Amino acid sequence: MALSEWWSGARRPPAPDPSLWQLERLDGRLHMDGQDLTELAARYGTPLYVASARVLQARCRELLDALAQYPRPVQVCYSYKTNRVAGVLQVLHRAGCGAEVVDEYELRLARQLEVPADRIVLNGPNKSEAELVQAVEAGIGLIVVDNLEELDRLDQLGAAEGRTVPIALRVCPDVKPRGMNVSSITGSRRTQFGFDLKSGEATRAVRVAVARPHLRLRGVMAHIGSGIRDLRSVTRCVERLLDVQLEAARAGAEPDLLDVGGGLGTRLSREFTTWEMLTYLGFGRLPRAPRTAPADLFARYGNTVTEAVTEGCNRRGLDLPTLILEPGRALVSDGQVLLLKVGQVRERPGVGRFAITDGGAMTVSMMFLSEYHAVLLANRNAPLEGTTTVVGRLPSPMDVVYRGMPLPRLEQGDLLAVMDAGAYFTATETTFGGPRPAVVLLERGEPRLVRRRESFEDRVALDCELRDMAGSDDATHG
Ligand SMILES: Cc1ncc(COP(=O)(O)O)c(C=O)c1O
Repeated sequence: MALSEWWSGARRPPAPDPSLWQLERLDGRLHMDGQDLTELAARYGTPLYVASARVLQARCRELLDALAQYPRPVQVCYSYKTNRVAGVLQVLHRAGCGAEVVDEYELRLARQLEVPADRIVLNGPNKSEAELVQAVEAGIGLIVVDNLEELDRLDQLGAAEGRTVPIALRVCPDVKPRGMNVSSITGSRRTQFGFDLKSGEATRAVRVAVARPHLRLRGVMAHIGSGIRDLRSVTRCVERLLDVQLEAARAGAEPDLLDVGGGLGTRLSREFTTWEMLTYLGFGRLPRAPRTAPADLFARYGNTVTEAVTEGCNRRGLDLPTLILEPGRALVSDGQVLLLKVGQVRERPGVGRFAITDGGAMTVSMMFLSEYHAVLLANRNAPLEGTTTVVGRLPSPMDVVYRGMPLPRLEQGDLLAVMDAGAYFTATETTFGGPRPAVVLLERGEPRLVRRRESFEDRVALDCELRDMAGSDDATHG
């Protein structure tokens, strides 16, 4: 292939097929769970997220089924940070998930949604005093410790409460899954997470944890990245975790839990590799659409984890632990779409075509900068016609949806559906260019508003000066 052909992306794959996401096209318009997305956009306004309870439940069931062969208990603690809209969380909890939380807000949210304390895991490399106190007082199931000071502080809190605090140590396994970029890898020594194996930091942490009378070292934990399709990296990670688990057992702990974190990728969207990210952000060349991951990705992941843990424990003479998983992306990514409306279309001779929508990377989601998501024309059917740079309405070149995306020739008023928008989309939105979008949940075929669009009053409520001014003629603020 000539360099110019490669650069212009001439060898593009065909238009994405909506049926891959179980969407139907009726009279040209995309339907999700029987609901016309164009009608939902008109009713609730854009940008708009539409989530499917059916898909969310199906993903939970798929993961639980994939782990059913494991002979000891398994806890799937959904990673709240991925998508913490309460309407979505409720569906996941009803489907059998606990909660993995990383801050006070998420901990309180889980408590408010009545997640049993013993099904909550607290993570974080720099937990606040308030977070540690609340976690100990609530008696949550597991606190994953990431530094030695935390061990001492939790021991003191345990003493004050007259209880033993259940902890795991986060370990840095120095495992880098293939096919990802630096922003999505968290298991390498070049990151700040977890006790280091190589330098002996993990061994020291095990000794300290075992020596503290109000701590119960229940096991170890690692989370090596987000969007993983390279399952060999999961096996390598489990192996390194089990080495530390063995050290803990030899040091006198009785480890009975193993937390393998989250990280499983999705079938139809994927992370850019570091090289793709560099060429995209630096030169505007959009990577190719991802190859679809195998339909049985969850089953393969389940087999990989259970085999690695079972064989690894047998080899080391360890009892099989309870397994904890902290999936986020895999459970919610394809359960939600983002609808954007095209406001303006501009052709610049010699440069290309732009479609200006109502949301981009600096407004609705940072994920556009590092992940590939299919974008479908939702309100009519039309063939692909060259490439279009789709941007948001903020006067910033960074408020981009995708540069140079193969799309039909767009018109004012068209509706775009960004697929696999359930993970890290609402979680990374900003108010830089407008209010946060509403979220509609489709449940048993009916749409229900689970988060309304952010209003002027919502935003003013945080600003003490404006809130006080507004409060002088409207006592309801605040
Ligand atoms: C500690 C921890 N657990 C779980 C997750 C969820 O990861 P994923 O969405 O890739 O499953 C994350 C995400 O960054 C994390 O940091």
